[in-house]
Amino acid sequence: MPYETITVTPVSPNIGAEIGNVDLTKALSNRQVQEINDALMEYLVIFFRDQKIDHQAHKALGRHFGELHMSVGGDGTNSKMLADDPEVRALHFDANSSSVSGEVWHTDQSCAATPPMGSILYLHTVPPNGGGDTMFASMYAAYDALSDRMKTYLSGLTAVHDGTRVFAQTANNKVPISTHPLIAKHPVTRRKLIYFTGEVVTKINGVPPAESAAIIAFLDKHCAHPDFQCRFHWRPHSIAFWDNRCAHHRAIWDYWPNVRSGFRIQIKGTGAPLPA
Ligand code: SIN
Repeated sequence: MPYETITVTPVSPNIGAEIGNVDLTKALSNRQVQEINDALMEYLVIFFRDQKIDHQAHKALGRHFGELHMSVGGDGTNSKMLADDPEVRALHFDANSSSVSGEVWHTDQSCAATPPMGSILYLHTVPPNGGGDTMFASMYAAYDALSDRMKTYLSGLTAVHDGTRVFAQTANNKVPISTHPLIAKHPVTRRKLIYFTGEVVTKINGVPPAESAAIIAFLDKHCAHPDFQCRFHWRPHSIAFWDNRCAHHRAIWDYWPNVRSGFRIQIKGTGAPLPA
């Protein structure tokens, strides 16, 4: 479908587009929302520049696409819930940080029974030396690149996504463990994709342990192939909005001791990942 209200500039063949001609600090028309949604479905992650949004505008943007999701990670994570605005999480890293959010390839909160449909990250402060990019990868492209034999083998298998691998159990938060199909179908585009998060997948069900470990190692490497990726270079007041159902991402922490700071919201998923 042609875009009439926004401009859409792809950044790589398989994933990512920069969106222009829209001011996210202002109310959006139905047509603008529809076109942003269309671009997200087409490009999996979309980027906006020069958007000085406050928490209200950030949440309003998210709510055009669904209810807001509350993190299942509780307070045992590097991102921190704002006490007075719990749907917004601060991602602030500086000289005192010993780790940052999202340093390995993942899709957000795949340990949840219903993982978030999408995430919207806004950074107001970025390192002065060009660091702190985020990488994104298309799990459609990763699926398409499998051999027909491997597609057949993986189809129908399920994997255990254990959130305790990345989130601390606390008195206030029980971290979920969920089983999801390894080959899933996107609920909107109906395209097939690999649904896998190396950092939390502990087991492929129904196969011997050594085979499970070999599949996990294979998928970890396969899904991280550069052919499926783009890399977003942040500037102050940029936004990345990714479709968590089909895109992986990885934050690059190459900027210590500099500051990288902003806020993230997530949008509720409409259901568990669908088997393909
Ligand atoms: C995340 O994994 O949500 C963090 C992404 C980033 O900081 O670039």
